[in-house]
Amino acid sequence: MSITSMGGRLPDDPRSERAYSGSSSANQVIPKITTASLRQLKQRREPITCLTAYDYATARLVDEAGIEMILVGDSLAQTMLGYENTLSITMDEMLHHVKAVRRGVKRALLLADMPYGSYQLNDGEALQNATRFVKEGGAEVVKVEGGEKRADLIRRIIDAEIPVCGHIGLTPQSVNVMGGYKVQGKELNGIEQLMRDAVALDRAGVACMVLEGIPREVAAMITAEVNAPTIGIGAGPECDGQVLVFHDLVNLTFAPPAKFVRRYGDAAGVISRAAREFRADVKSAQYPADEESYHLPKETKAALDGVLARKRAMGR
Ligand code: KIV
Repeated sequence: MSITSMGGRLPDDPRSERAYSGSSSANQVIPKITTASLRQLKQRREPITCLTAYDYATARLVDEAGIEMILVGDSLAQTMLGYENTLSITMDEMLHHVKAVRRGVKRALLLADMPYGSYQLNDGEALQNATRFVKEGGAEVVKVEGGEKRADLIRRIIDAEIPVCGHIGLTPQSVNVMGGYKVQGKELNGIEQLMRDAVALDRAGVACMVLEGIPREVAAMITAEVNAPTIGIGAGPECDGQVLVFHDLVNLTFAPPAKFVRRYGDAAGVISRAAREFRADVKSAQYPADEESYHLPKETKAALDGVLARKRAMGR
């Protein structure tokens, strides 16, 4: 497509950045977050925020809260679908949720997590699956777990015009190889491997990289070393940004939280209370009240009363 056929917009036309006018002021223009915005935020040392979302309503609320990146993480396997780990979730299940989130997100950068088995088998299949996330799901970036060993694949995905978010450290899809969910990079050779992984991802041209479950000191070294913004989860405060799983943020998980989780709300409490109160109200005939019921129009009511009275009079 030539520049002149881009709907009359030049690439740096400010209209290209207009996403929506927020709910606070009709004239407020909130710029769309792009992969370029992430680099600018890193350069300005302005912390980047990222949350996971898996459905329309949550995505919309998170987007309207001003979070810059929204990740449809494969953690949805556990948080939304009740699987034991992330290994069994499929491309089709992921895509179903990416589409729902897409409909709720206007401003944030939308990332989709490549599930286990969607990119490990061969590059052709990996490219096909990454393309599905963009074409069918409307994702803007795909996330791939693994460092050095994924660099060539990541280059191929980027060559296909799809930005990639790397993910190193504690990579949940490697749970069986790691022998559990363990903090990585606690020994010198582990630190060396993590540095090599981070540099390989950076050289491959990732738009950003998630650093999960690594010591703060190591995350700080990586963040200083690479050009790509680092987004930490259990990786300390020196990362360029922070990501949390939405269900951890609002207490919708059923296991004790990891050390790095901070609860910002109690959705479990709100939902449980609402369900219990609804049950109690129905059982005690407190719900629905008359003002929560629909009523017949006056004329229909009068006509109906007439019919019923005639029936009664005729002994029926
Ligand atoms: O799947 C996920 O939610 C993730 C984040 C924890 C980064 O990969």
